[in-house]
This record gives sequence, C-alpha cells and structure tokens, in this order.
Amino acid sequence: MSINRINQITLLGMAALFLGVTGAAFAALSQAEKAQEPVIKKVPIERSAPESGKQMYMDYCAVCHGHDGKGGGPAAAALKAPPSDLTQMAKKAGGESPYFRVKSALQFGSSIGAHGTSDMPVWGPLFRSVSGGDSAQVQLRINNLATYVDSLQEK
Ligand code: HEC
Repeated sequence: MSINRINQITLLGMAALFLGVTGAAFAALSQAEKAQEPVIKKVPIERSAPESGKQMYMDYCAVCHGHDGKGGGPAAAALKAPPSDLTQMAKKAGGESPYFRVKSALQFGSSIGAHGTSDMPVWGPLFRSVSGGDSAQVQLRINNLATYVDSLQEK
C-alpha cells in the first residue's frame, strides 16, 4: 500500500494529535479486511489552500463529517461519539446561522463532548502549523470554513 510509505513523512508539531485520530480510524477500517490488530498510522496534515472553504472542508473535515456534512465520513465508525451532522446546525438553533459557533469550535474545540473525550480536533494549532504561524492566514482558514459550513445548512 503506497499510503503506508507516505505515512513515513515527518509530522508537523501538533498535527500529530489529529492525524493520530484519523490514522486510527483508517487502521480500524483495514482491520476488517485483515483481521489483525489495528496499527495507528500518522499522516502529515496537508497544506490546503486557505482561500477555498470547500477544498479545506474536503481535505480536513470530510473524513469524519462526510462530504455532504451529514456525519457519515469513513472515519466516523471508529470514533467514540458520532461526528455532528453539520447540515442541521441552523435548524437545531431555530434558524440561526452557525457561522460563529463553527468558528468557535475550530478555534477552541467542540463544546459538545465531555471534557477530554471529544474526537473533534482543535484546529487552531493545526492551522497555525500549516500557515507558517501567519495568524491572518489562520483567521482566513477559519472564516472560510465557517462560511462553507454555513452554506451546507438545510432549511
Ligand atoms: C477526527 C474526526 C473529526 C474531524 C476530522 C473533524 N471533526 Fe468536527 N466533530 C467531530 C466529532 C466527533 C464531533 C461531535 C462532538 C464532539 O464529540 O465533541 C464534531 C463536532 C463538530 C462541530 C460542533 C457541531 C455543533 O453542533 O456544535 C463542528 C462545528 C465541527 N465538528 C466542525 C468541523 C470542521 C469544520 C472540521 C474540519 C476543519 C471538522 N469538524 C473536522 C469529529 C471530527
């Protein structure tokens, strides 16, 4: 599997934290085929273009939340708690845009899970690592992702 070789590439600081989680999820998926202990594989976080909320969503979020935002990504089954259905955030909040809640979840982590049990990564430090510490770029990433998630809302 060529993906295993890609996994050898060195990790970027905090990125290891999140990638360990998704790596575990992928390993759990292949466990079904091979019937052996899952091995945690770590892959480097990709440097996705900060200008495209959609591209970043596909690269960073879809693995858990699904391409359509409904929570059915390939890693979902291996998580402790199911990833939120991001298309229902406005509906659940009486029609209020989830823009600021998404920003807060990305910066500070999800407020849903109990302390320390959430599989939802805290993205602030990860985005700093792929933005070379440029805080304007980190903000652009968070704003564009929040706008994209806002656009996924079902009425
Ligand atoms: C490793 C899996 C994983 C990845 C990757 C992931 N999430 Fe999550 N996310 C979760 C889980 C699980 C929850 C459910 C709440 C919890 O467990 O804290 C969640 C919750 C959320 C929430 C809170 C929803 C609410 O109703 O308040 C938002 C917003 C969110 N994620 C956005 C994102 C975005 C945007 C990305 C990509 C930058 C992302 N997530 C990547 C697993 C993930």
